[in-house]
Amino acid sequence: MTDDTTNKSETKAQGIARGLTNYGDLAFSRYLRRSFASSMGYSREMLDRPIVGIAHSASGFNNCHRHFPEMIEAVKRGVLAAGALPVEFPTISLGEVFLSPTSLKFRNLMSMDVEEMIRAQPMDAVVLLGGCDKTVPAQLMGAASANLPAIQLVAGPMSTGRHKGERLGACTDCRRFWQQYRAGTIDDTEIDTVERKLASTTGTCAVMGTASTMACLAEALGMMPMGAAAVPAVSADRLRIAEDTGRIAVSLISNGRTPAEVMTQQAFDNAIRILLALGGSTNAVLHMAAIAGRLGLDFSYGRMNELSDTTPVLVDLKPTGDFYMEDFSAAGGIPAVMRELRHLLNLDCVTISGETIGDRIERADPWVDRSVIHAFDDPVRPNGGLIALSGNLAPRGAILKRSAADPRLFEMEGRAVVFSSLEDLANRVDDPDLDVTADDFLILQNAGPTSNAAMPEAGYLPIPKKLARAGIKDMVRLSDARMSGTAYGTIVLHIAPDAASGGPLSLVRNGDRIRLSVQEKRLELLVDEAELERRCSETPVSPQKAEAQRGYSRLYSEQILQADEGCDFAFLKGEGEKD
Ligand code: FES
Repeated sequence: MTDDTTNKSETKAQGIARGLTNYGDLAFSRYLRRSFASSMGYSREMLDRPIVGIAHSASGFNNCHRHFPEMIEAVKRGVLAAGALPVEFPTISLGEVFLSPTSLKFRNLMSMDVEEMIRAQPMDAVVLLGGCDKTVPAQLMGAASANLPAIQLVAGPMSTGRHKGERLGACTDCRRFWQQYRAGTIDDTEIDTVERKLASTTGTCAVMGTASTMACLAEALGMMPMGAAAVPAVSADRLRIAEDTGRIAVSLISNGRTPAEVMTQQAFDNAIRILLALGGSTNAVLHMAAIAGRLGLDFSYGRMNELSDTTPVLVDLKPTGDFYMEDFSAAGGIPAVMRELRHLLNLDCVTISGETIGDRIERADPWVDRSVIHAFDDPVRPNGGLIALSGNLAPRGAILKRSAADPRLFEMEGRAVVFSSLEDLANRVDDPDLDVTADDFLILQNAGPTSNAAMPEAGYLPIPKKLARAGIKDMVRLSDARMSGTAYGTIVLHIAPDAASGGPLSLVRNGDRIRLSVQEKRLELLVDEAELERRCSETPVSPQKAEAQRGYSRLYSEQILQADEGCDFAFLKGEGEKD
């Protein structure tokens, strides 16, 4: 299948002959490459096959991906069995808790690595092997831009651990126990024990956090084999899925199906419906906007709100419900959720395996565990888990996970207690003299995408210790930061424009009144225009804006977009180049 003639167009070449290194003599380039490839022990028969690249993100700094060597072997089996040559290659890995200041800062870097290595190396299709929070969106962004046939494979979720008869799963239970520790109800010895039991196997966090949400959305978009999102990392089924992924990747070489043909506007509507029905992570809103942006598709908060009003929450998973990802998989997984929503989905969307979404629903096992996946007419909540808010405090929008919030706080007016930065928050939130009550709104400024903090998952502001010890478990909290998909509370996030870029959030002062209305989807700073203009003129613009002098941080500070555009880089948006 390899092009052996020098006068044939290089773009028609397959496998090892694709994208030759340029020495000014194509025949020499081909000869040299074949010679160096031979040095790895490949036979000529293997080198004549088309190539499936396996872009993997294993790393010693990524606990979630520690089983990737075994998964890669399974992908290779599938590729070889279908007649192509598998070639694995590493890309940047983003281990969520090992990165400073935050993994989001490096998502776009990873997407560039994935895109450019798909483009630059000789492969005819690619398997994307990721899992931890930012890796799957980075891979889908990169593959969307490269637009070579691609299929997503994920790590799968961790299995739960046990502590004193209770099931434990990262990382909703991490927060639950930490709250108990802060409130003084468990001691140092017990928190140490829990620390060792929270993440007990390889795989991604065990709840419907960002990693699981993005895996489910990759399946809903059609970029993954059916039922592949939720199968546990340690299961033998996970390896069979990997093998099947390898086989499907080979089929993509002959049918030429690209990410842009699968991830259409209709497919995004399907995925947003699934996100809402899952009560999925707020981070997924950012990532979906970024992936859509790479394809030149529309991802608007207005559309998400329309879908949210007509899509019930059907899945009862932590952080908002009772169950874990392993239970979701056993209950029927994404195919079962899609079956409940079938009358709302675009059933004609083609998936990476060639079936439509409608075909997949028909083929799926009809059995479902109703304690985990509810029927459409008996939902967990009547409307979607996420909404976008707007108003003079968030002219370009903000996100609230209403399924994780306390409905008693949905229609509230409160007094602002302002923290001007993460440092200010850390220094003062537990100060016994802090002027704060349970009815106040906690405000965090300068933690958005253009700040030095680079939008960390700090929107889950801690309840001030003196209130926590008095039994207060939730308060309205507002910021331009993000929140872990495993967290919960009445927490307004992603306020845009962010404070560091001079958005209205930067103008909030202690004692201001703020109004939140979930019903009206509004967020208003109740300060008159003249006073805001006065504050605007006296506030230095962008006091905390990141302005790095060199390297990736400089690129980040020059190119980063606001949350409503998915925090992608401006110069990466638009249609991917077509080969
Ligand atoms: Fe990797 Fe949670 S730390 S998914």
